[in-house]
Amino acid sequence: MATYGKLTEAIEDALRAPSVHNTQPWRWRIRGDAVELHADWDRHLTVTDPDRRDLVLSCGAALHHLQVALAARGLGIDVHRLPDPEDRSHLATVELQPQPADGTKADALDAALFPSIAERRTDRRLMSHRHVPPDDLQSLVNHAARCGALLVQVTDPALRRQLVTALVDAGQHQQVEPGYATELRMWTHRLPGGHDGVPAANVAAPPIGAREPSPLRRFTRSELAQPPQQPGHGPADDAAELLVITTPGDDELDRLRAGEATSAVLLAATRIGLATTPLSQALEIATSREHLRQDVLHVPENPQLVIRVGWPASDAPKLPVTPRRGLGSVLLR
Ligand SMILES: Cc1cc2nc3c(=O)[nH]c(=O)nc-3n(C[C@H](O)[C@H](O)[C@H](O)COP(=O)(O)O)c2cc1C
Repeated sequence: MATYGKLTEAIEDALRAPSVHNTQPWRWRIRGDAVELHADWDRHLTVTDPDRRDLVLSCGAALHHLQVALAARGLGIDVHRLPDPEDRSHLATVELQPQPADGTKADALDAALFPSIAERRTDRRLMSHRHVPPDDLQSLVNHAARCGALLVQVTDPALRRQLVTALVDAGQHQQVEPGYATELRMWTHRLPGGHDGVPAANVAAPPIGAREPSPLRRFTRSELAQPPQQPGHGPADDAAELLVITTPGDDELDRLRAGEATSAVLLAATRIGLATTPLSQALEIATSREHLRQDVLHVPENPQLVIRVGWPASDAPKLPVTPRRGLGSVLLR
């Protein structure tokens, strides 16, 4: 297939990337043998995400999805992040390398993640009582490290309680923040047949009887059933881990890389069969982000996103796929 066809197909795969409130805040342009990724500031959640952290992370996730999609097509690439100091919306250019005859320039580890692009979903339900083995967690840490991020596991029970409390407090803080509820409503009540936003079919009501208050974001509509309880187990047995993506600094490049690492961790977890939930509320408020860094994580790195990871509950039905805007809506000419 000609280069243009391969690039458009790979961009279509990248559109499956997760994004805050499914805003899909990206634009793409194909220039010869290269793909440009641009932020779409019109899709910025100005109240929820005042720093544009979630927006840039979402674009970083799409950038990583694109790298995976190109690797799966046997293509070697060079990635230039923030290539134009005059244009802050131009987040990256991904350039195809001249192709060797045997196609060996493609990144095999990235290519192996490709099937997970179609499989991955944000799972907001209770997870299984089975713990995630340390080897699997270590492989997620390795995937994040390849993208320049440190993935921190919060295991100590007291620190985990603090992390959950920070997420819950951030949620309560936002509930009374002027404009937050309106923004949430706007992205959870899209018109029928819409191609963005969070559908009620992907949101479950918080479980009753859980061990700790739910650290998940509260949405106004929920149509997703919690999974059936296994004999001898209840909501208190959810053994999901809380992991935190962190980066050495906190500028645009760090956030872009954090998004790439987020995608790598989510896709690698999906490949193992794990369910995942990105949780960003505690990172959307400056004071709670600083509290996480200083009092919970105890690392010099900057927290960017919490990721909940666990085995899906037994007999949990497959989640519906969330909508995406088509290529025609996001391709710049
Ligand atoms: C930066 C970022 C922040 C997110 N924050 C949350 C969150 O706080 N709570 C939540 O339930 N989902 C969160 N999500 C998941 C998105 O809502 C989800 O990716 C989007 O609705 C598309 O659905 P999908 O992941 O199933 O494809 C976040 C995703 C990203 C990339």
